[in-house]
Amino acid sequence: MLSEVLLVSAPGKVILHGEHAVVHGKVALAVALNLRTFLQLEPHSNGKVGLHLPNIGVKQVWDVARLQLLDASFLGQDDVTAPTPEQVEKLKEVACFPEDCAVTERLAVLTFLYLYLSICRKQRWTEEDLELINKWAFQGERVIHGNPSGVDNAVSTWGGALRYQQGKISPLKRSPALQILLTNTKVPRSTRALVAGVGTRLIKFPEIVAPVLTSIDAISLECERVLGEMAAAPAPEQYLVLEELIDMNQHHLNALGVGHASLDQLCRVTMARGLHSKLTGAGGGGCGITLLKPGLERPEVEATKQALAGCGFDCWETSVGGPGVSVHSAASLDGRVRQALGGL
Ligand code: PMV
Repeated sequence: MLSEVLLVSAPGKVILHGEHAVVHGKVALAVALNLRTFLQLEPHSNGKVGLHLPNIGVKQVWDVARLQLLDASFLGQDDVTAPTPEQVEKLKEVACFPEDCAVTERLAVLTFLYLYLSICRKQRWTEEDLELINKWAFQGERVIHGNPSGVDNAVSTWGGALRYQQGKISPLKRSPALQILLTNTKVPRSTRALVAGVGTRLIKFPEIVAPVLTSIDAISLECERVLGEMAAAPAPEQYLVLEELIDMNQHHLNALGVGHASLDQLCRVTMARGLHSKLTGAGGGGCGITLLKPGLERPEVEATKQALAGCGFDCWETSVGGPGVSVHSAASLDGRVRQALGGL
């Protein structure tokens, strides 16, 4: 039982290169960001467990006793296991979604309930449990999008920058602290549907799509090589290579059918200011990244952010390579974070 407020944070992340290709066994390069999501765990003695996700408008409360009736099929899992379709059905019943509940909200609640019922009663949370956190986060991803590669949970757990291929995680030994813009086009999309679409295209046109995936793999490897070189001996030409890789990958992702007019707009708006962008993650809307090269004047960065905001996008300036999932005391947190968490 929790006896005090516990704060946990995990980094935002982006895939630099290799999204979609990674689902088909190719390499992906992913980095944790210095933008974090905070989770506040508060003990209650009213026999209820509540979930409040203000950013997506989820606020629900369940009777612990009612959830415990369900536990039989969820407990006794000594190992980290994928949710069965029967378990998901049970969770949907207990979740009691309102009629107008959006898919994202439903998936977030189902993921919470699955992980709560599977983990919370086991009382396991130590900083050394990263392996376990990573495994459970992967199962959470499975609830959300069915057939995840595992790259997202890995980089959010371990932080930094890593190369990921078929479950093998290799942290980049040296990586420069790239500055980027992370832009949310706010166009909703389903990772599950986009990943399935690439799979279908691969089956339909194997001779065309397989070489695109192989080329994305080569882009990830070249990016890894250049990042290593930049950390050891930085030179301005290296940014030109990173920019070319971004452009080529963005075109490949369009060829895979995961582009979107909003992402084209992001690329155009930033290109008009000499900056290179690509989608990150599943595409079809969602987020994109823009590389900020050193020496960019502050007014140029601000003008780009304003232009993107003018398109209706949300835009954050950040750096890559943030720490992985962490526990915090309230006192150690930045004032703005404490305020966002309700004035701790
Ligand atoms: O958009 P996100 O954060 O769900 O990232 C999806 C990345 C994919 O490569 C498309 C899928 C995966 O599981 O790796």
